[in-house]
Amino acid sequence: MQRLALAFGLMATAISAPGLAAENIHLSIDASKPGPKIDRNIFGQFAENLGHGLYEGIWVGPDSSIPNTRGIRNDVVAALRDLKVPNVRWPGGCFADQYHWRKGIGPRDKRPATVNSAWGDVIDTNAFGTDEFMDFIQQIDSTPYVSVNVGSGTPQEAAEWLEYMTAAAPTALAKERAENGHPEPYKVGFLGIGNESWDCGGAMTPDYYVSLMKVFSRFVLNMNPAQREKGQMLKIAVGPSTPDTEWTEAVMKAWKKHTWAWDINGVSLHWYTVPNGWPPSTKSEGFGLDDYTKSLKSTLFMDEFLRKHEAVMDKYDPEKKVTISVDEWGAWHAPLSGSNPAFLVQQNSIRDAVLASLNLNIFARHADRVRMANIAQMINVLQAMILTDKEKFVLTPTYYVFKMYVPFQDATSIPVAFDAGVYTQGSVTLPRTDAIAARSADGKLWLEITNLDAENPATIEAAVNGMAAKSARAETLTGAAVDSINTFDAPNAVVPKPATIKIQNGRLSLTVEPRSVTVVSIEP
Ligand code: AHR
Repeated sequence: MQRLALAFGLMATAISAPGLAAENIHLSIDASKPGPKIDRNIFGQFAENLGHGLYEGIWVGPDSSIPNTRGIRNDVVAALRDLKVPNVRWPGGCFADQYHWRKGIGPRDKRPATVNSAWGDVIDTNAFGTDEFMDFIQQIDSTPYVSVNVGSGTPQEAAEWLEYMTAAAPTALAKERAENGHPEPYKVGFLGIGNESWDCGGAMTPDYYVSLMKVFSRFVLNMNPAQREKGQMLKIAVGPSTPDTEWTEAVMKAWKKHTWAWDINGVSLHWYTVPNGWPPSTKSEGFGLDDYTKSLKSTLFMDEFLRKHEAVMDKYDPEKKVTISVDEWGAWHAPLSGSNPAFLVQQNSIRDAVLASLNLNIFARHADRVRMANIAQMINVLQAMILTDKEKFVLTPTYYVFKMYVPFQDATSIPVAFDAGVYTQGSVTLPRTDAIAARSADGKLWLEITNLDAENPATIEAAVNGMAAKSARAETLTGAAVDSINTFDAPNAVVPKPATIKIQNGRLSLTVEPRSVTVVSIEP
């Protein structure tokens, strides 16, 4: 059976099982039919004040023996710079609705200690506050996505925080910022109006939240005239984390009737890979094929989840002015044995890399509405880029996926028609492969191929139309087993390697490894 999937679509038709010779996968790329831009903000990150995400992961303090710049780890900054991180969401998550920014500014030895009651009731020294976050953002060359406290804060508190961060004129708060060493206003690219307000953010009803959303949108302003212009600071409203569309309906219905007094630019959606339901129980190390396939299946639901919410948004906003920001996504596994369960510590395997690529490909296929996404979370928490333990540091398989996808940032999506094949393992049936393509500003074509099949390689035949494809190079990421990980002692078990690719008369052929993520660059 050889039916081709429609542009940007995915179809499963062939059968693959261990020991069986699987059919080749045929891709047809049409560079003459460009689609929407893949917004670089879909490669955003999330750094909550949770466990060792900020403290130890980023902040070690200026007196630490770990090499740092003004208290921020140099190894972490260097690694993140290579990812060209477009934006970082901070300070939460659930923590955001308990955060009072004033406790985190001024001389660090005078800051009050507080309790992080969102995550394990640990003492928070508040050493990593607004100015430290902005320093981190500048060191990694990113853009801040600041979530203000709607749950236990007031519009006044949030408005004053924005004034502290963005006022250029010599207001009292701008002067205070200058006294704290930062005369220049910070640029705030994104403003989150609360977080999960239906649950940890205050257990609100949709209508109650919508009223607060309008008030916060009206009064929490960027005070820098240069940043006030349209599109300079996008306001993201809370959305749901289930396929139920009641909340999205309420937010979008209100938006449809918005006046000059308030506006929102995006709705946040959260979707985690939690194959067995809550609490998360999949292991992050030492697991087998069943956990692998169930995790990929759960990940692929992201597509349906987005479609459901997009249908509601299309009804109120057919011009797609309000975007989707999937500002929490990723695999949420059981806490690592011996760790504080409130710190959400987990290992990161080639399975997580494969499911990261599936999510990123889904976002790319929804590029007309999904303009931002933030993997949860950046360092030491959930599906992290980096794991640290005091001076030790390791890059995870997921880190390498983000690095391989850098060329897709702001690239123009290009349709790929393909027959995905079928991969069946036990009771779980999945597409055997996935793929996206895009063209970057320098004219290169980029093709990503994910082989979901844990045991069999896939031979790919790709025809490039609408562009003279002269040369091609490929890089692939895989591991020896579905649970292969990088550790402090063996950091290079799962790292990208060059792959063999042939090109003849505009046709590419390559064989991708089992459980792998491959990125091909094609030069005209
Ligand atoms: O990422 C961990 C938590 O998951 C966030 O704080 C919260 O928003 C979500 O429930």
